[in-house]
Order: sequence, then C-alpha cells, then structure tokens
Amino acid sequence: MKKIAAFLLLTMALLTSCTVSTVYITPPSSDYGTKTAVSVLETFGNETPEPDDTNSTSVVGTATGADTATPTDVNKETETPDNSDVTDTPTPTPTPTKTPVVDDKGVKELKLDVYEVTLYVGKDHEPEVTVLPENAENKEYYLESDDPSVALIKDNSVISARGKGSCAVNVISKDNGDARARIEVTVLHTPEGEITYIEGILIANKTFALPSTYGPGVDPEAKEALNDMFAAAKKDGLKLFICSGYRTYAYQKSLYNRYVDRDGKEKADTYSARPGHSEHQTGLAFDLNKVDDSFDGTPEAIWIAEHAHEYGFIVRYPKGKQEITGYKYEPWHVRYIGVEKAKAVYESGLCLEEYLGITSVYGY
Ligand code: DAL
Ligand code: ZN
Repeated sequence: MKKIAAFLLLTMALLTSCTVSTVYITPPSSDYGTKTAVSVLETFGNETPEPDDTNSTSVVGTATGADTATPTDVNKETETPDNSDVTDTPTPTPTPTKTPVVDDKGVKELKLDVYEVTLYVGKDHEPEVTVLPENAENKEYYLESDDPSVALIKDNSVISARGKGSCAVNVISKDNGDARARIEVTVLHTPEGEITYIEGILIANKTFALPSTYGPGVDPEAKEALNDMFAAAKKDGLKLFICSGYRTYAYQKSLYNRYVDRDGKEKADTYSARPGHSEHQTGLAFDLNKVDDSFDGTPEAIWIAEHAHEYGFIVRYPKGKQEITGYKYEPWHVRYIGVEKAKAVYESGLCLEEYLGITSVYGY
C-alpha cells in the first residue's frame, strides 16, 4: 500500500512539472512571435543572443524562449520546477553578438528617370521615382526645392517652374530621410513673342511681357462676369461702370510715355505699365469708376474689395503690396481669373504674385 501511495505521489509530481514546462515552450499565439521580434529589437538593438543562451534557464525568462526552446529545455526545466514563476526569477543577461538586424522592407535608395530638367516658367515636371527595394513597405516620398522662387513644389510631387535661374530639388523618402535623389533644375524665361501662363492664369506684369502683336480685345467671359457684378452692385444700390478696359500695345505705349513726360520714368513706373506689360492688353482687366486715389474708401471701392471675387475678379494691386506687385494700390483695377481662382486668391490674403510665387520686376 505504501508503495502504491509513493508511486502515485511520484506520478503527480512528474505530471505537474511537465505541465509547467509546456507553458514555457509553446507560443500562445502567432502574435506572440511577432511581438518577440519587436521586443528583441527594442531590447538588444542590433544584437541577438548567442546560440548557447538557448540552453540556459535565462532563455526561459526572455520572450525568445518560446521560439527557441528545445526538448533539452523541457528536461532541464522539469528538473528545476522552481523556475515555474518565470517573471520572478532573476536571470543573467545574455551576452549579445553584433549581428545587425536587417529590415528588408525599409527604403534604401531612390532612383529617378532624369537628374536634370530644363523648364520654361509656368511649366511643370513630375519626376518618375523608383523606390528601392521593390518590396519596401512605405514607398512615399516628397520633394523639396532649395529655391522656390525658381522652382516650387506642388502636391509634394510636382516641380513647377516659377522664375529664371537654377536650383536643386531633392526627392526624399518618407521612410528614410537618408534615401534621397537630387534633380538639377534650370528655369528659362518665357521665349520672346510668347505668353506666360502660370496655373492657367495669363500673366502680364513687370517680369512677364506680352508680345506687341497680342491684341485679343475684351475677353467675352470676363465681360459677362463684369456685367453680373455690375448688376449685383446695382441691387445693393451702387453704380459701377468701366472707366478703362481693353488697351492695345500701341495705346499703352502712348499712355505710358505721356506719364513719363509728366512725372518722370521712376514715378510713372509705380502706377503705369510699360508697353507689353499692362494687364489691360490681356482684355481681362478693367479700371472701374474712378482712376484716382480719392476712390479709396468709397462705398463702391469697399463693395468691389468685398465682392469682386464672387464674380471671378481680384483687386490686382492691393494696399501694402507695392514692393511685390510693382504698383501702388489701385482699388479700381480688377482682373478676371475665374470664380474658383479669384476666391482662392481672395481667401489667401495674398496678391497674385505671392499666390503664384512669381516676381514683378523689370529686367531692363
Ligand atoms: N495701371 C496699371 C498698372 C497699368 O498701367 O496696367
Ligand atoms: Zn488698370
């Protein structure tokens, strides 16, 4: 009877030990394995435990034990049931080896279709970017210009030429800032005799001229929008009318020369455009009511400032922007660019040059 009792006790002890060992060597779920990998990176950085560690009890105390335990481990643990409380067991730190952990899915390199581009002002170029390795997890990148006055970046991916000159654009991986490629960008001025469009807006200012032969007359769409605006102002009890509309190159030339004779070139340049540089030659600009500083602050001028954008017009030479537009404040001069764009410019609080990132400076 005693023998039977002893046998039963021994069997129970063995069963208890085996159950405890099973807990250590069986990963509870596939997630456990994933977390283990992260944990190894966090704990050891670029280091992994030496193979010998798998035979020591310390392995049981680390997260890697579940993945690396062998039948030998079972026996060892069976012999040392006190280790069942793993978290409380002080464990020696394994001696790490310097094996770098390679993150195969990290971005290593960016390659481009071209590394040099030449563009005319107003033109765009979207580089074709190859992100390596092929199986990289995060293939996103962004572009950065070292001179936005020459080439600015749109939507993080498009190079848009803005001003004559050269600059570099870097294409940079969002995953790895060291993975980057450089494009040399050269921007050329609009060729003689051609018109500059930037973001679909015809540009006539001190930097960008119109050919002397360009004479489209009043733009019909702009005229219709102007009539709508006049009707709306009328409903509000105000009378708006055109004081000066479309001008030919020849007419602008005579006008400008008259002002130069009267005030001198330097002063004339602050309020009158040289021939080829006036927006009035586009057929898209109008002076309303009174071309005189006394127009500022009148109910009509205030109404124009508050409502012109609703009809597709912008007050082209706003107050305080003379250094940027090249012209003193003209509350009477409106320019048609379409409702969507006019609203965007109005809401930005910027003048057109600032909004588009261009200059207005004579090159002669
Ligand atoms: N007054 C504007 C700047 C023009 O002459 O076109
Ligand atoms: Zn004007």
